[in-house]
Amino acid sequence: MWHRRGFFQSVAKAMALPALLPKPASASLRRYPYLQNVSSTRASIVWTTETEGIGAVRYSRDTSMNRAASAIVRELTPGETDLGSSYYRHTVHLNNLEPGAKYYYRVEHDGVPVADEPTLTFQTPSSGPFRFLAFGDSGTGRVQQLDLAAQMMREQVNLVLHLGDIAYMAGSFAEYEAFYFNVYRDMMRQVPFFPCPGNHSYWTREAFPYLTMHDLPQVAMAPATEKGRYYSFDWHHVHFVAVDTNAPLSRAVQGRSPMLQWLDQDLAATRQYWKVVFFHHPPFAGGPNETDPLSILAREHVVPILERHGVQLVLCGHEHSYQRSHPLRQGEIVEPGKGTIYMTSGGGGAGLYPVHPKPFIAFGQSIHEYLRLGVSAGRINIEAVLATGDVLDRTEVAPSPELSAPAVVNSAFAEAQLCAGGLISIYGRNFAPENEAARNFPLPASLGTVSLSLRGQNLPLLFVSPYQVNAQLPFDFTGDADLRLTTPNGSASVSIAAAEAAPGILAVAHPTGELVSASSPARPGQVLIIYAAGLGPLDGEIRAGQAAPSDRLLNTRLSVRVKVGGAMVTPAFAGLVPGLAGLYQVNVQLPSTLSPDTSLAVHAGSATSNWVRLAV
Ligand SMILES: [Fe+2]
Repeated sequence: MWHRRGFFQSVAKAMALPALLPKPASASLRRYPYLQNVSSTRASIVWTTETEGIGAVRYSRDTSMNRAASAIVRELTPGETDLGSSYYRHTVHLNNLEPGAKYYYRVEHDGVPVADEPTLTFQTPSSGPFRFLAFGDSGTGRVQQLDLAAQMMREQVNLVLHLGDIAYMAGSFAEYEAFYFNVYRDMMRQVPFFPCPGNHSYWTREAFPYLTMHDLPQVAMAPATEKGRYYSFDWHHVHFVAVDTNAPLSRAVQGRSPMLQWLDQDLAATRQYWKVVFFHHPPFAGGPNETDPLSILAREHVVPILERHGVQLVLCGHEHSYQRSHPLRQGEIVEPGKGTIYMTSGGGGAGLYPVHPKPFIAFGQSIHEYLRLGVSAGRINIEAVLATGDVLDRTEVAPSPELSAPAVVNSAFAEAQLCAGGLISIYGRNFAPENEAARNFPLPASLGTVSLSLRGQNLPLLFVSPYQVNAQLPFDFTGDADLRLTTPNGSASVSIAAAEAAPGILAVAHPTGELVSASSPARPGQVLIIYAAGLGPLDGEIRAGQAAPSDRLLNTRLSVRVKVGGAMVTPAFAGLVPGLAGLYQVNVQLPSTLSPDTSLAVHAGSATSNWVRLAV
């Protein structure tokens, strides 16, 4: 029934909404200061005044308020709004902030503090666990919204996602003031709200009030008319993406908006472990809006992009109820840890809708609620919370590792095979929540929360990240075997096979250690050191992951030769670099004549490395 647009617009008008506006905290203040677009190094503070004047924010890490930033002021005339009089929006951008820091701030108008409190605070993202809230379909001013809001105010959270339909019915200026800023004021001044537009936002001038009230991350490739409607940002190791499933989605499907192209590129580019996407129209929910053309467009055009990039969690509104899907892939239920979980939290305060049972819905209830999400490393705990504070439903998102195809390559030279003692890189997703490199020898058997095993033995690890793990294969590895990557959320395996040798050149240096380059070229007849991996077995005992000894040299057992400028040269030494693991060096004297376009490659047994161009 929400779609009888003209009817509800006239009701909203008849309700004389401006009478519901909050009383300003000072003579001049119309809208209390609120935080926007907080990241590890920046924040915006926005407020509005009835009268023109000079706005500024004083702020500091302590209570000294020794830094100041001026506001950018924009007048909104009665012709642009539905408020009957002009008002002035002040926006201050605080830059060069420190990550993980608490800041005190104070807002001034013509040099006089505007808020009741002398100082307010906010926090930039830190590297530890954090919590956030998410809810949608809230803004009616009904007691159900206010009771839920009162419970939300008791939460200690770092940010809030609004899943759309912030202000009913028409998303007008007066409705945002009454049912959004007035209701969540005490949270909004200390915690940033990151919203996405709902269908009701579009009732007034294509979401013009929504756009003027928010100061959100900018998308470079969005046209001017779509700036602020969709965006992404990082909070610690979560990449959040807000999609606009209203007009931009319809336009994108017709090739008239870059939003879906941007979404694809944005998700491909992130290196964060977590990808959480939120938008208004739920692709997987059962209720009166399940036939909404925009929900169907979201399912047909947004979901395939999310699945391609392994988005673990999607948050939506629009159905005025609470719903949690099973983990899904291509619309089918998959086992826990795989697929995407779709949560609908549309019980933020508006009148409720029934939940229509669906095979893909694990739990649903027609009830007012909001989501409380706790992020810690590789887990997100989600609770649906009621106005009483009771928890209606709990779930955990624990994505298990997935491998790409091909999953394993030779770290030194991706086209080469794998070999005993060689360095390998494994690609996929849901590996380690954060990047971590080994710090000492012997290399560790697990790093962060990741381990790799082959024939029951853990492999020594050099580096782990959400999408890549680097390790060394055992020196006695022959034949083929399953390589298994394990995290606390599960494991994934792939069959690998070893060649006798799989040489890859990493660098070419002068004996001083300086790399050969155009500014430091190689000279005919000089000795060069070629650093390589994958030169195969050795003539002495060493375990993978151990640093090569400094007191005795370990030579390669295979015949190693260097092809340079048409000549085949036998090196003076080919073996492990003392003090490092899995890295070989080949000391070779160059021929006495070299042409300017000389390349070189290393042969180990019957295998040949990549060719490297030599600056001569
Ligand atoms: Fe909606």
